[in-house]
Amino acid sequence: MEKREIVLSGIRPTGNLHLGNYFGAVTNFVKMQETNECYFFIADYHSLTTHPHPDNLQGNVRQVLVEYLAAGLDPEKATLYLQSDIPETAELYLFLNMNAYLGELERVTTFKEKARKQPDNVNAGLLTYPTLMAADILIHKATKVPVGKDQEQNLEMTRTYARRFNHMYKADFFPIPTAYNFGKQLVKIPGLDGSGKMGKSEGEGNAIFLNDDPKVIRKKVMRAVTDSGPTEKNQTKPDPIENLFTLMKVVSKPETVAFFDEQYNNCTIRYGDMKKQLAEDIIAFTTPFREKIEEISADQDYILKVMNMGAEKARESAVKTMREVRELIGFRKIY
Ligand code: TYM
Repeated sequence: MEKREIVLSGIRPTGNLHLGNYFGAVTNFVKMQETNECYFFIADYHSLTTHPHPDNLQGNVRQVLVEYLAAGLDPEKATLYLQSDIPETAELYLFLNMNAYLGELERVTTFKEKARKQPDNVNAGLLTYPTLMAADILIHKATKVPVGKDQEQNLEMTRTYARRFNHMYKADFFPIPTAYNFGKQLVKIPGLDGSGKMGKSEGEGNAIFLNDDPKVIRKKVMRAVTDSGPTEKNQTKPDPIENLFTLMKVVSKPETVAFFDEQYNNCTIRYGDMKKQLAEDIIAFTTPFREKIEEISADQDYILKVMNMGAEKARESAVKTMREVRELIGFRKIY
């Protein structure tokens, strides 16, 4: 049996959870809560980097919490909380920022992508996104961080900041955390637009959300980018086709994947048939989530109870770390 390690991960409340979030992250959260001390949170401070409207913030936060619960996270087993309920995180972020350098922050791929996407809003929070993420992880002294492939570089930054802090204060204080996926490679789930990864902000129709209606799923999948089909036997699949197969591998039976793979290899594949099958398999996979989301969403008392319980447990752990951090740095005891 795995030993009880401290596990932490989070998701930004910028929309509903999609299949990328599920297979890249949440499915691992659900497994890990059984044998580890887990902290799973909703990164609402982080979402401010893209300036959400205050009217939507609460609703989006609530939705992610509901979807965590619907996916099988259990507040009795894992600590589920909102990042902004632990203001000590902001204090640790401030301390870590004192040893984070402009050059290294500017080189982070996600920063460069965001700066390109929102040139009118390249704020300091966007630049220091990795130090806030490091604060999230280090405040609970987590050692394992289940995330998708896109977060690998951010995790590398956390490791750097943990080592730097330890070195600066001559203490073996923060453990050095690792990105985790059950001994397997980190996952990248592709989107339906033929390129890159499934994402919330990658444009209409690119992502399939856990609470999408069957009709919507059929429409999105049938519109997925394909090409005119293979012309030679066993030819390498171009990216958009490989992407459809990757999606099929996570939701369909292995026999189904093998069937279409063989058809591709002998040039008899009809993408329309493959997409129909893929859509039905996605619907079969997401339907229980959709139903659970609806059920949990109706229970406001329960949601509030989960939030309060999580805030209390997460704060206890955060305050403990911050007492030690303040002492190491040389500040007065206030907690
Ligand atoms: P976010 O909200 O963009 O994504 C949440 C989780 O989903 C994973 N993910 C994917 N995995 C595979 N394929 C995809 N297409 C895909 N899209 C998203 C992400 O890798 C992530 O694990 N910075 C984080 C939130 C965060 C955090 C943290 C995570 C803040 N602090 C501390 C871990 C630890 C983010 O924006 O994730």
